[in-house]
Amino acid sequence: MLTIVDDERALAAAAAERITSLIEKSIRERHGAIVSLTGGSTPRLLYRYLGDPMQSWRARIDWSRVHLLWGDERHVPPDDPQSNFGMAHEALVNHVPIPAFQVHRMRGELINVNEAAREYESELEAAFLDANRSDRTFDVMLLGMGEDGHVASIFPGSPLLTGSPFEVTLSVAAVWAPHLNAWRITLTPATLLNSRAIVMMVAGTAKADAVRWALEGPEQVDQHPAQLLRRVSDRVYWIIDQLAAGRLHAAPPG
Ligand code: 6PG
Repeated sequence: MLTIVDDERALAAAAAERITSLIEKSIRERHGAIVSLTGGSTPRLLYRYLGDPMQSWRARIDWSRVHLLWGDERHVPPDDPQSNFGMAHEALVNHVPIPAFQVHRMRGELINVNEAAREYESELEAAFLDANRSDRTFDVMLLGMGEDGHVASIFPGSPLLTGSPFEVTLSVAAVWAPHLNAWRITLTPATLLNSRAIVMMVAGTAKADAVRWALEGPEQVDQHPAQLLRRVSDRVYWIIDQLAAGRLHAAPPG
């Protein structure tokens, strides 16, 4: 499903409504919701809306039944300005009554980034076990997309996209991002896609080409990782602003 909205405030409101409805549905049907958050700057206003007691969304969610996880994290401590957890904590987590043990952050502060990835495998296990889930299917996976079409920390040319043997066994990987000269911790493609619903939030002109490649371009997943979502398109909610939609052939007028 593709929703095109006017601007970033409308984007955050549309995403807040979609995510809140998905969480409400999951709690009704499964007595809980396992939600993976994304990093970057796009979701900051969304997180603020979800945590704002003056908005309707916060009270609609029974936060005692929500487990929060992350799709990826930078190799930094949680108080670092680059931390995906840190941003979400400041904008959302600190403002909602979610039990601390239901907030599962990736420990980007660990020197050994592979250890952080292995540890998060256990954290994932603990979250699903605590939620009495026999499968390891997320209820909501929130993702953003980079200008190069990356999702989470799965960048163009990533070994995770070339069918490397290890991706088959792990749900979490430590990946070197050469263009960033930095390590990242990320859920692997299969794990990202293993969700009942995926919400993809994209804003801005700079993303217009990547959006077009993701939705309309010829299949080249290793160069356009967001094309991974085509494999589960019936469960994906693309919510983008007019600027990000600017290169779509099918973009409706207005
Ligand atoms: C990260 C995110 C990443 C992000 C995109 C878009 O760690 O940066 O997980 O996948 O969603 O890079 O980032 P912006 O919202 O800042 O454009």
